[in-house]
Amino acid sequence: MWMTNVVALCLLALVASAEDKKLSSHATTLADKSANLAFSLYNKMAKEKGTENILISPVVVASSLGMVALGGKSSTASQVKKVLSADNMKDEHLHAGLSELLSGVRTMLHPTVSDAKTRNTTWKINNRLYGPSSVSFANDFVKNSKKHYNYDHSKINIRDKRSAVNSINEWAAKSTDGKLAEVTKDVPNPDGAMIVNAMYFKPHWFETFNGDMVDKRAFLVTRSLTIGVPMMHRTGLYDFHEDKENRVFVLNMPLGQKQASLILIMPYYLEPLERLEKLLTRKQVDTWISKLENRAVAISLPKIAMEVSHNLQKHLAELGLTEAVDKAKADLSNISGKKDLYLSNVFHASAMEMDVIGNPFDTSIYSSGKLSNPQLFYVDHPFIFLLKDNKSNSILYIGRVVRPKGDVLRDEL
Ligand SMILES: *[C@@H]1O[C@H](CO)[C@@H](O)[C@H](O)[C@H]1NC(C)=O
Ligand SMILES: *[C@@H]1O[C@H](CO)[C@@H](O)[C@H](O)[C@H]1NC(C)=O
Ligand SMILES: *[C@@H]1O[C@H](CO)[C@@H](O)[C@H](O)[C@H]1NC(C)=O
Repeated sequence: MWMTNVVALCLLALVASAEDKKLSSHATTLADKSANLAFSLYNKMAKEKGTENILISPVVVASSLGMVALGGKSSTASQVKKVLSADNMKDEHLHAGLSELLSGVRTMLHPTVSDAKTRNTTWKINNRLYGPSSVSFANDFVKNSKKHYNYDHSKINIRDKRSAVNSINEWAAKSTDGKLAEVTKDVPNPDGAMIVNAMYFKPHWFETFNGDMVDKRAFLVTRSLTIGVPMMHRTGLYDFHEDKENRVFVLNMPLGQKQASLILIMPYYLEPLERLEKLLTRKQVDTWISKLENRAVAISLPKIAMEVSHNLQKHLAELGLTEAVDKAKADLSNISGKKDLYLSNVFHASAMEMDVIGNPFDTSIYSSGKLSNPQLFYVDHPFIFLLKDNKSNSILYIGRVVRPKGDVLRDEL
Protein backbone atom coordinates (compact mmCIF):
# COMPACT_ATOMS: atom_id res chain seq x y z
CA MET A 1 0.00 0.00 0.00
CA TRP A 2 2.72 2.35 1.08
CA MET A 3 4.79 1.50 -1.99
CA THR A 4 1.86 2.09 -4.29
CA ASN A 5 1.40 5.52 -2.83
CA VAL A 6 5.00 6.41 -3.40
CA VAL A 7 4.80 5.30 -7.02
CA ALA A 8 1.58 7.21 -7.52
CA LEU A 9 3.16 10.33 -6.08
CA CYS A 10 6.12 10.03 -8.42
CA LEU A 11 3.84 9.66 -11.39
CA LEU A 12 1.89 12.69 -10.31
CA ALA A 13 5.10 14.68 -10.04
CA LEU A 14 6.08 13.65 -13.56
CA VAL A 15 2.74 14.67 -14.99
CA ALA A 16 2.87 17.98 -13.19
CA SER A 17 6.34 18.81 -14.46
CA ALA A 18 5.45 17.87 -18.02
CA GLU A 19 2.46 20.17 -17.98
CA ASP A 20 2.73 23.88 -18.57
CA LYS A 21 3.31 25.36 -15.18
CA LYS A 22 1.92 28.82 -14.76
CA LEU A 23 4.38 31.52 -13.85
CA SER A 24 4.02 33.12 -10.44
CA SER A 25 2.79 36.69 -10.35
CA HIS A 26 6.27 37.97 -9.44
CA ALA A 27 7.84 36.17 -12.36
CA THR A 28 5.14 37.54 -14.66
CA THR A 29 5.78 41.07 -13.42
CA LEU A 30 9.52 40.63 -13.88
CA ALA A 31 9.06 39.23 -17.38
CA ASP A 32 7.23 42.42 -18.18
CA LYS A 33 9.89 44.62 -16.59
CA SER A 34 12.69 42.83 -18.35
CA ALA A 35 10.94 43.39 -21.67
CA ASN A 36 10.98 47.14 -20.98
CA LEU A 37 14.63 46.87 -20.03
CA ALA A 38 15.23 45.12 -23.36
CA PHE A 39 14.09 48.10 -25.38
CA SER A 40 15.86 50.71 -23.26
CA LEU A 41 19.09 48.79 -23.37
CA TYR A 42 18.86 48.07 -27.08
CA ASN A 43 18.23 51.73 -27.82
CA LYS A 44 21.23 52.85 -25.79
CA MET A 45 23.45 50.34 -27.51
CA ALA A 46 22.17 51.07 -31.00
CA LYS A 47 23.18 54.71 -30.57
CA GLU A 48 26.76 53.86 -29.80
CA LYS A 49 29.10 54.62 -32.68
CA GLY A 50 30.99 51.70 -34.09
CA THR A 51 28.55 49.04 -32.85
CA GLU A 52 27.54 46.75 -35.70
CA ASN A 53 25.72 43.58 -34.72
CA ILE A 54 23.86 43.54 -31.42
CA LEU A 55 22.82 40.48 -29.48
CA ILE A 56 21.58 40.76 -25.93
CA SER A 57 19.44 38.57 -23.75
CA PRO A 58 17.28 40.80 -21.54
CA VAL A 59 16.30 37.87 -19.36
CA VAL A 60 19.93 37.10 -18.69
CA VAL A 61 20.71 40.80 -18.12
CA ALA A 62 17.83 40.98 -15.65
CA SER A 63 19.07 37.95 -13.79
CA SER A 64 22.59 39.36 -13.67
CA LEU A 65 21.12 42.49 -12.13
CA GLY A 66 19.35 40.25 -9.65
CA MET A 67 22.71 38.77 -8.77
CA VAL A 68 24.08 42.28 -8.17
CA ALA A 69 21.09 43.05 -5.95
CA LEU A 70 21.84 39.88 -4.04
CA GLY A 71 25.40 41.03 -3.44
CA GLY A 72 24.53 44.65 -2.82
CA LYS A 73 23.48 46.49 0.29
CA SER A 74 21.54 49.67 1.02
CA SER A 75 21.32 52.12 -1.87
CA THR A 76 23.53 50.03 -4.14
CA ALA A 77 20.99 47.24 -3.89
CA SER A 78 17.91 49.43 -4.13
CA GLN A 79 19.26 51.13 -7.23
CA VAL A 80 19.45 47.77 -8.98
CA LYS A 81 15.80 47.21 -8.25
CA LYS A 82 15.03 50.62 -9.67
CA VAL A 83 16.78 49.78 -12.94
CA LEU A 84 14.57 46.70 -13.09
CA SER A 85 11.54 48.86 -12.17
CA ALA A 86 11.01 46.49 -9.27
CA ASP A 87 11.51 49.06 -6.50
CA ASN A 88 8.53 47.88 -4.57
CA MET A 89 9.20 44.20 -4.77
CA LYS A 90 10.51 42.41 -1.70
CA ASP A 91 14.02 40.98 -2.12
CA GLU A 92 12.85 37.41 -1.72
CA HIS A 93 10.22 37.90 -4.43
CA LEU A 94 12.71 39.53 -6.74
CA HIS A 95 15.17 36.66 -6.47
CA ALA A 96 12.57 33.92 -6.60
CA GLY A 97 10.80 35.59 -9.54
CA LEU A 98 13.91 36.16 -11.63
CA SER A 99 15.09 32.69 -10.80
CA GLU A 100 11.80 31.22 -11.94
CA LEU A 101 11.93 33.19 -15.16
CA LEU A 102 15.45 32.11 -15.96
CA SER A 103 14.92 28.47 -15.15
CA GLY A 104 11.62 28.55 -17.06
CA VAL A 105 13.20 29.69 -20.28
CA ARG A 106 16.16 27.42 -19.75
CA THR A 107 14.09 24.31 -19.40
CA MET A 108 11.82 25.42 -22.20
CA LEU A 109 14.62 25.83 -24.70
CA HIS A 110 17.19 23.56 -23.18
CA PRO A 111 15.02 20.97 -21.60
CA THR A 112 15.58 17.83 -19.69
CA VAL A 113 15.05 14.29 -20.84
CA SER A 114 11.44 14.31 -19.74
CA ASP A 115 10.70 17.02 -22.24
CA ALA A 116 11.71 15.28 -25.45
CA LYS A 117 9.54 17.40 -27.72
CA THR A 118 11.58 20.51 -27.28
CA ARG A 119 15.01 19.08 -27.02
CA ASN A 120 16.22 20.50 -30.30
CA THR A 121 16.65 24.21 -29.69
CA THR A 122 19.96 24.82 -28.01
CA TRP A 123 20.43 27.61 -25.54
CA LYS A 124 23.41 27.39 -23.28
CA ILE A 125 23.63 30.10 -20.66
CA ASN A 126 26.73 30.27 -18.52
CA ASN A 127 27.20 32.93 -15.90
CA ARG A 128 30.26 33.64 -13.90
CA LEU A 129 31.34 36.31 -11.46
CA TYR A 130 35.04 37.03 -11.42
CA GLY A 131 36.72 38.83 -8.58
CA PRO A 132 40.30 39.79 -7.81
CA SER A 133 42.26 37.14 -5.94
CA SER A 134 42.25 39.26 -2.78
CA VAL A 135 38.50 38.84 -2.41
CA SER A 136 36.87 35.99 -0.56
CA PHE A 137 33.35 35.23 -1.65
CA ALA A 138 30.90 34.79 1.22
CA ASN A 139 29.40 31.29 1.43
CA ASP A 140 25.84 32.54 1.50
CA PHE A 141 26.37 34.63 -1.57
CA VAL A 142 28.00 31.78 -3.46
CA LYS A 143 25.14 29.48 -2.53
CA ASN A 144 22.33 31.91 -3.35
CA SER A 145 23.76 33.30 -6.57
CA LYS A 146 24.20 29.73 -7.76
CA LYS A 147 20.73 28.75 -6.69
CA HIS A 148 18.82 31.72 -8.13
CA TYR A 149 20.98 32.83 -11.00
CA ASN A 150 23.12 29.87 -11.90
CA TYR A 151 26.27 31.88 -11.27
CA ASP A 152 29.56 30.36 -10.46
CA HIS A 153 32.56 32.23 -9.12
CA SER A 154 36.16 32.56 -9.94
CA LYS A 155 39.14 34.75 -9.20
CA ILE A 156 41.73 36.38 -11.36
CA ASN A 157 45.11 37.87 -10.75
CA ILE A 158 44.61 41.55 -11.48
CA ARG A 159 48.28 42.12 -12.07
CA ASP A 160 48.34 39.77 -15.01
CA LYS A 161 45.83 41.10 -17.51
CA ARG A 162 46.83 38.66 -20.20
CA SER A 163 46.05 35.66 -18.06
CA ALA A 164 42.78 37.27 -16.93
CA VAL A 165 41.69 37.68 -20.56
CA ASN A 166 42.75 34.12 -21.32
CA SER A 167 40.96 32.60 -18.39
CA ILE A 168 37.70 34.39 -19.24
CA ASN A 169 37.89 33.41 -22.89
CA GLU A 170 38.87 29.83 -22.15
CA TRP A 171 36.00 29.38 -19.74
CA ALA A 172 33.54 30.86 -22.26
CA ALA A 173 34.78 28.66 -25.07
CA LYS A 174 34.67 25.56 -22.93
CA SER A 175 31.20 26.21 -21.58
CA THR A 176 29.75 26.82 -25.06
CA ASP A 177 31.35 23.78 -26.67
CA GLY A 178 33.78 26.05 -28.46
CA LYS A 179 31.07 28.12 -30.16
CA LEU A 180 32.01 31.32 -28.39
CA ALA A 181 35.75 31.55 -28.81
CA GLU A 182 36.26 35.01 -27.41
CA VAL A 183 34.42 37.23 -24.97
CA THR A 184 36.94 40.00 -24.77
CA LYS A 185 40.37 41.11 -25.91
CA ASP A 186 40.93 43.26 -22.89
CA VAL A 187 39.87 43.54 -19.27
CA PRO A 188 39.68 47.20 -18.35
CA ASN A 189 39.69 47.76 -14.57
CA PRO A 190 40.46 44.20 -13.52
CA ASP A 191 40.39 45.27 -9.86
CA GLY A 192 36.59 45.02 -9.61
CA ALA A 193 33.97 42.32 -9.78
CA MET A 194 33.19 41.25 -13.33
CA ILE A 195 30.11 39.62 -14.70
CA VAL A 196 30.58 37.30 -17.64
CA ASN A 197 27.61 35.83 -19.50
CA ALA A 198 28.65 33.33 -22.15
CA MET A 199 25.84 31.97 -24.29
CA TYR A 200 25.21 29.84 -27.31
CA PHE A 201 21.91 29.86 -29.11
CA LYS A 202 20.79 27.77 -32.03
CA PRO A 203 17.13 27.82 -32.97
CA HIS A 204 15.28 24.77 -34.20
CA TRP A 205 12.56 25.97 -36.58
CA PHE A 206 9.00 24.82 -36.19
CA GLU A 207 9.25 23.92 -39.87
CA THR A 208 12.57 23.01 -41.40
CA PHE A 209 14.30 24.80 -44.27
CA ASN A 210 15.38 22.77 -47.23
CA GLY A 211 19.09 22.06 -46.78
CA ASP A 212 19.55 21.40 -50.51
CA MET A 213 18.42 24.86 -51.44
CA VAL A 214 21.15 26.78 -49.61
CA ASP A 215 23.10 28.93 -52.05
CA LYS A 216 25.44 31.88 -51.96
CA ARG A 217 23.84 35.29 -52.19
CA ALA A 218 24.76 38.89 -51.63
CA PHE A 219 24.00 40.63 -48.34
CA LEU A 220 24.04 44.41 -48.66
CA VAL A 221 25.66 45.89 -45.57
CA THR A 222 25.64 49.41 -46.99
CA ARG A 223 25.31 50.86 -50.47
CA SER A 224 28.99 50.33 -51.02
CA LEU A 225 29.65 47.11 -49.09
CA THR A 226 28.31 43.71 -50.08
CA ILE A 227 29.09 40.43 -48.36
CA GLY A 228 28.59 36.90 -49.65
CA VAL A 229 26.48 34.74 -47.33
CA PRO A 230 24.92 31.30 -47.63
CA MET A 231 21.19 31.87 -48.00
CA MET A 232 18.52 29.33 -47.03
CA HIS A 233 15.06 29.34 -48.52
CA ARG A 234 11.59 28.07 -47.79
CA THR A 235 8.00 28.88 -48.55
CA GLY A 236 5.36 28.24 -45.93
CA LEU A 237 2.53 29.71 -43.94
CA TYR A 238 3.71 32.39 -41.52
CA ASP A 239 2.36 35.26 -39.51
CA PHE A 240 3.35 38.32 -41.46
CA HIS A 241 2.62 42.04 -41.45
CA GLU A 242 3.50 44.77 -43.87
CA ASP A 243 3.51 48.21 -42.27
CA LYS A 244 3.04 50.38 -45.36
CA GLU A 245 3.23 53.64 -43.51
CA ASN A 246 6.63 52.85 -42.03
CA ARG A 247 7.84 50.70 -44.91
CA VAL A 248 8.62 47.74 -42.68
CA PHE A 249 8.01 43.99 -42.94
CA VAL A 250 7.43 41.96 -39.79
CA LEU A 251 7.61 38.18 -39.75
CA ASN A 252 7.03 35.67 -36.97
CA MET A 253 9.01 32.42 -37.24
CA PRO A 254 8.07 29.91 -34.56
CA LEU A 255 10.66 27.62 -33.01
CA GLY A 256 10.45 24.13 -31.58
CA GLN A 257 6.83 23.39 -30.77
CA LYS A 258 6.02 27.11 -30.76
CA GLN A 259 7.35 27.67 -27.24
CA ALA A 260 9.18 30.67 -28.63
CA SER A 261 9.42 32.56 -31.86
CA LEU A 262 11.85 34.71 -33.70
CA ILE A 263 10.33 37.97 -34.85
CA LEU A 264 12.14 39.62 -37.72
CA ILE A 265 11.67 43.32 -38.38
CA MET A 266 13.12 44.55 -41.63
CA PRO A 267 12.85 47.74 -43.67
CA TYR A 268 11.63 47.22 -47.26
CA TYR A 269 14.99 48.06 -48.73
CA LEU A 270 18.57 48.55 -47.65
CA GLU A 271 18.88 51.56 -45.36
CA PRO A 272 20.69 52.36 -42.12
CA LEU A 273 18.66 50.95 -39.23
CA GLU A 274 18.45 54.30 -37.42
CA ARG A 275 15.03 55.11 -38.83
CA LEU A 276 13.63 51.78 -37.74
CA GLU A 277 15.33 52.00 -34.36
CA LYS A 278 13.61 55.30 -33.68
CA LEU A 279 10.31 53.46 -34.12
CA LEU A 280 11.38 50.55 -32.00
CA THR A 281 9.40 50.80 -28.80
CA ARG A 282 7.70 48.02 -26.99
CA LYS A 283 4.35 49.50 -27.87
CA GLN A 284 5.19 49.62 -31.56
CA VAL A 285 6.39 46.03 -31.54
CA ASP A 286 3.19 44.93 -29.77
CA THR A 287 1.18 46.79 -32.39
CA TRP A 288 3.04 45.03 -35.18
CA ILE A 289 2.55 41.68 -33.49
CA SER A 290 -1.17 42.31 -33.09
CA LYS A 291 -1.43 42.93 -36.82
CA LEU A 292 0.31 39.77 -37.96
CA GLU A 293 -1.73 37.65 -40.35
CA ASN A 294 -1.13 34.11 -41.46
CA ARG A 295 -0.27 33.85 -45.13
CA ALA A 296 2.11 32.26 -47.60
CA VAL A 297 5.60 33.72 -47.28
CA ALA A 298 8.70 32.87 -49.30
CA ILE A 299 11.56 33.37 -46.89
CA SER A 300 15.21 33.72 -47.77
CA LEU A 301 17.32 34.00 -44.65
CA PRO A 302 21.10 34.08 -44.29
CA LYS A 303 22.42 30.86 -42.79
CA ILE A 304 24.85 32.52 -40.48
CA ALA A 305 26.85 32.04 -37.36
CA MET A 306 27.64 35.12 -35.37
CA GLU A 307 29.44 35.82 -32.17
CA VAL A 308 28.66 39.11 -30.52
CA SER A 309 30.18 40.42 -27.36
CA HIS A 310 29.23 43.55 -25.46
CA ASN A 311 30.46 45.22 -22.35
CA LEU A 312 27.17 46.41 -20.86
CA GLN A 313 28.62 48.17 -17.86
CA LYS A 314 28.45 51.65 -19.37
CA HIS A 315 24.96 51.13 -20.79
CA LEU A 316 23.61 49.86 -17.48
CA ALA A 317 25.08 52.96 -15.86
CA GLU A 318 23.22 55.06 -18.45
CA LEU A 319 20.04 53.31 -17.36
CA GLY A 320 20.65 54.28 -13.74
CA LEU A 321 23.01 51.67 -12.36
CA THR A 322 25.49 54.28 -11.20
CA GLU A 323 26.43 53.14 -7.71
CA ALA A 324 27.42 49.53 -8.23
CA VAL A 325 29.85 50.58 -10.95
CA ASP A 326 31.38 53.38 -8.92
CA LYS A 327 34.45 52.36 -6.94
CA ALA A 328 33.91 55.07 -4.35
CA LYS A 329 30.22 54.42 -3.78
CA ALA A 330 29.54 50.76 -4.43
CA ASP A 331 28.45 48.64 -1.51
CA LEU A 332 28.58 45.05 -2.66
CA SER A 333 29.47 43.79 0.76
CA ASN A 334 27.05 40.89 0.66
CA ILE A 335 29.38 39.34 -1.91
CA SER A 336 32.45 39.27 0.29
CA GLY A 337 31.42 40.49 3.71
CA LYS A 338 33.46 43.64 3.13
CA LYS A 339 32.96 46.83 1.22
CA ASP A 340 35.83 45.99 -1.10
CA LEU A 341 34.20 45.46 -4.49
CA TYR A 342 32.56 47.38 -7.29
CA LEU A 343 31.23 46.19 -10.60
CA SER A 344 33.90 46.92 -13.18
CA ASN A 345 32.79 44.97 -16.25
CA VAL A 346 29.64 43.32 -17.53
CA PHE A 347 30.65 41.10 -20.41
CA HIS A 348 27.63 39.78 -22.23
CA ALA A 349 28.50 37.52 -25.12
CA SER A 350 26.58 35.13 -27.34
CA ALA A 351 27.20 32.89 -30.24
CA MET A 352 24.18 32.35 -32.43
CA GLU A 353 23.75 29.99 -35.34
CA MET A 354 20.90 30.22 -37.79
CA ASP A 355 20.74 26.93 -39.59
CA VAL A 356 18.26 25.04 -41.74
CA ILE A 357 17.25 22.53 -39.11
CA GLY A 358 13.72 22.30 -37.87
CA ASN A 359 10.78 19.96 -37.59
CA PRO A 360 9.62 18.04 -40.65
CA PHE A 361 6.27 19.24 -41.95
CA ASP A 362 3.41 18.00 -44.04
CA THR A 363 4.58 18.45 -47.63
CA SER A 364 1.06 18.04 -49.01
CA ILE A 365 0.83 21.79 -48.40
CA TYR A 366 2.70 22.28 -51.69
CA SER A 367 -0.14 20.86 -53.73
CA SER A 368 -2.87 22.47 -51.62
CA GLY A 369 -2.77 25.84 -53.32
CA LYS A 370 -2.27 27.54 -49.96
CA LEU A 371 1.23 28.60 -50.89
CA SER A 372 0.41 30.24 -54.19
CA ASN A 373 1.37 33.86 -54.60
CA PRO A 374 3.62 34.09 -51.54
CA GLN A 375 4.81 37.34 -50.05
CA LEU A 376 8.58 37.63 -50.51
CA PHE A 377 10.67 38.08 -47.38
CA TYR A 378 14.17 38.34 -48.71
CA VAL A 379 16.66 39.07 -45.97
CA ASP A 380 19.56 40.58 -47.87
CA HIS A 381 20.03 43.73 -45.80
CA PRO A 382 20.27 44.71 -42.11
CA PHE A 383 17.36 43.76 -39.85
CA ILE A 384 16.30 43.68 -36.23
CA PHE A 385 15.05 40.60 -34.44
CA LEU A 386 13.51 39.54 -31.18
CA LEU A 387 13.23 36.12 -29.67
CA LYS A 388 10.06 35.96 -27.66
CA ASP A 389 8.97 33.36 -25.19
CA ASN A 390 5.42 32.37 -26.01
CA LYS A 391 4.42 31.64 -22.42
CA SER A 392 5.88 34.45 -20.34
CA ASN A 393 6.11 36.95 -23.21
CA SER A 394 9.60 37.72 -22.04
CA ILE A 395 12.21 38.71 -24.54
CA LEU A 396 14.91 36.10 -24.62
CA TYR A 397 17.01 37.94 -27.16
CA ILE A 398 16.92 41.25 -28.94
CA GLY A 399 19.43 42.18 -31.57
CA ARG A 400 20.29 43.24 -35.04
CA VAL A 401 22.28 41.82 -37.88
CA VAL A 402 24.09 44.58 -39.70
CA ARG A 403 27.16 42.81 -40.89
CA PRO A 404 27.21 39.04 -41.16
CA LYS A 405 30.45 37.12 -41.56
CA GLY A 406 31.39 36.34 -45.13
CA ASP A 407 33.64 37.28 -48.03
CA VAL A 408 33.50 40.85 -49.19
CA LEU A 409 32.00 40.75 -52.67
CA ARG A 410 32.04 44.44 -53.28
CA ASP A 411 33.58 47.30 -51.34
CA GLU A 412 33.61 50.65 -53.06
CA LEU A 413 35.27 52.60 -50.32
C1 LIG B 1 23.01 41.19 3.10
O1 LIG B 1 23.59 40.97 4.34
C2 LIG B 1 22.80 41.33 5.45
C3 LIG B 1 23.57 41.04 6.70
O2 LIG B 1 24.84 41.56 6.65
C4 LIG B 1 21.51 40.56 5.43
O3 LIG B 1 20.68 40.99 6.47
C5 LIG B 1 20.82 40.75 4.13
O4 LIG B 1 19.70 39.92 4.06
C6 LIG B 1 21.74 40.42 2.98
N1 LIG B 1 21.06 40.71 1.75
C7 LIG B 1 20.89 39.82 0.83
C8 LIG B 1 20.19 40.29 -0.40
O5 LIG B 1 21.30 38.68 0.94
C1 LIG C 1 15.35 16.87 -33.40
O1 LIG C 1 16.01 17.03 -34.62
C2 LIG C 1 16.32 15.84 -35.29
C3 LIG C 1 17.10 16.20 -36.54
O2 LIG C 1 16.62 17.36 -37.12
C4 LIG C 1 15.05 15.06 -35.60
O3 LIG C 1 15.38 13.84 -36.21
C5 LIG C 1 14.31 14.81 -34.31
O4 LIG C 1 13.06 14.19 -34.61
C6 LIG C 1 14.05 16.12 -33.59
N1 LIG C 1 13.40 15.87 -32.34
C7 LIG C 1 12.32 16.49 -31.99
C8 LIG C 1 11.80 16.06 -30.66
O5 LIG C 1 11.79 17.36 -32.67
C1 LIG D 1 1.97 30.15 -28.90
O1 LIG D 1 1.56 28.85 -28.58
C2 LIG D 1 0.25 28.51 -29.03
C3 LIG D 1 -0.04 27.13 -28.53
O2 LIG D 1 0.93 26.21 -28.96
C4 LIG D 1 0.18 28.61 -30.54
O3 LIG D 1 -1.11 28.35 -30.99
C5 LIG D 1 0.60 30.01 -30.97
O4 LIG D 1 0.66 30.09 -32.37
C6 LIG D 1 1.97 30.35 -30.41
N1 LIG D 1 2.33 31.73 -30.74
C7 LIG D 1 3.39 32.03 -31.44
C8 LIG D 1 3.63 33.47 -31.65
O5 LIG D 1 4.17 31.18 -31.88
